[in-house]
Amino acid sequence: MKPGKLTLLELADLKSRGEKIVMVTAYDAPGARLAEQAGVDILLVGDTAGMVVLGHDGTVPVTMDEMLFLTRAVSGAVDRPLVVGDMPFGSYHVSDEDAVRNAIRFVKEADADVVKLEGAGPSLSRVRSIAAAGIGVMGHIGLTPQSETILGGFKTQGRTAAKAQQLLSDALALEAAGCFAIVLEAIPVPVAARITESVTVPTIGIGAGPECDGQVLVYHDLLGLTEGRAPRFVKRYANLAEEIRGALTTYASEVRSGVYPAPEHTYAMPEDELELFSEAYSATPSRVDRSFPADTRAEPARPEGGTASGASAKRVQQSHTDG
Ligand code: KIV
Repeated sequence: MKPGKLTLLELADLKSRGEKIVMVTAYDAPGARLAEQAGVDILLVGDTAGMVVLGHDGTVPVTMDEMLFLTRAVSGAVDRPLVVGDMPFGSYHVSDEDAVRNAIRFVKEADADVVKLEGAGPSLSRVRSIAAAGIGVMGHIGLTPQSETILGGFKTQGRTAAKAQQLLSDALALEAAGCFAIVLEAIPVPVAARITESVTVPTIGIGAGPECDGQVLVYHDLLGLTEGRAPRFVKRYANLAEEIRGALTTYASEVRSGVYPAPEHTYAMPEDELELFSEAYSATPSRVDRSFPADTRAEPARPEGGTASGASAKRVQQSHTDG
C-alpha cells in the first residue's frame, strides 16, 4: 500500500464523524491526478468506461483486460485516494473461484486497492470469498447497470414498499458478507436514508439523495464531457465538451490557415550550422526525379529506412534535447 493512502478504517471513521465521502470515477492518469489534487477520497475505475470511454451503449461488453488497463493508469497516478477496480460483467458471475481470481488480478496486475461488484443474492458468496482472500469489496445495489436487461433499462429502483424492503435486506446482507461500503444507485431518498442509518458501513449515493454517507458521479457527466440528456441526478459542474470542441475547431482552422505553428513554436539552429547544411543541401542531387509522371511524384520522400512513426519518435526526442 502506498504511504498516505486512505485506509478502510479512515473511511469508516468518516461515516462515524458524519463527514461526507467524495468519490468520482476515473479512467486515466490525468483525470485521476486532477481528482486527487481536488481532494477526492475514492476513485472508482468504473465499468461505465464502456460507455464514456469506449463508446458502447452499456457496460456489459467491457472486458477484464480493458478494466485492468484503465485501472493501472489510474492507480499509478495517485497516492492518497482509494482506487476501486470495478469488476466487469462476466468476471464474477460464474463462480466464487472465478470472482476471487479476477479480484486478485485487479490487485496484482492493476494495483487496485479494492474491488467493486454489483448485486446481492448470488453476489453475496462472491463478496465473502473475495473478502476472505484479503481484498476489500464495495457493494452496489439499486440500479445495477450490468443487469440493465433484467431491470428493464436504466430505471429508478425500490419505488414500492416491497422493493424498498428488498433493497434494505440486500444492503444488510452485503454488510454481513463483508462489504466495506455500498453504492446505492437511483433509489428514492427515504429508502437510501433508511439503508444508510441501518448499516454500519458507508453508503455512497448516485441518484440516492443527500442522506447517503458520500456521493459519486461519473467524471464525464460532472465535467460536461457527455452531452445530450443526462440522468436527473447528474449535476454538470463544467461544460468541457464545448470548451474542447472550441479549442479543436480553432486548432483546425489555424493549421489550415497557417497561423499555427508560429515562430515561437519552432526550433532554430546556429547560423554556421545552417550555412554548412545549405551548402551540403545544394550539392546533394534532388531526391525527387521531377521527370516522373504527376501521380507518382506525389509520393512523399522518406529518409532511408525511416517510417512515419520513427520520424515522429525522433521529433519527440529532439524536442527534449533542443535548447
Ligand atoms: O461503473 C460506474 O461508474 C459505477 C458508478 C456509476 C457507481 O458503477
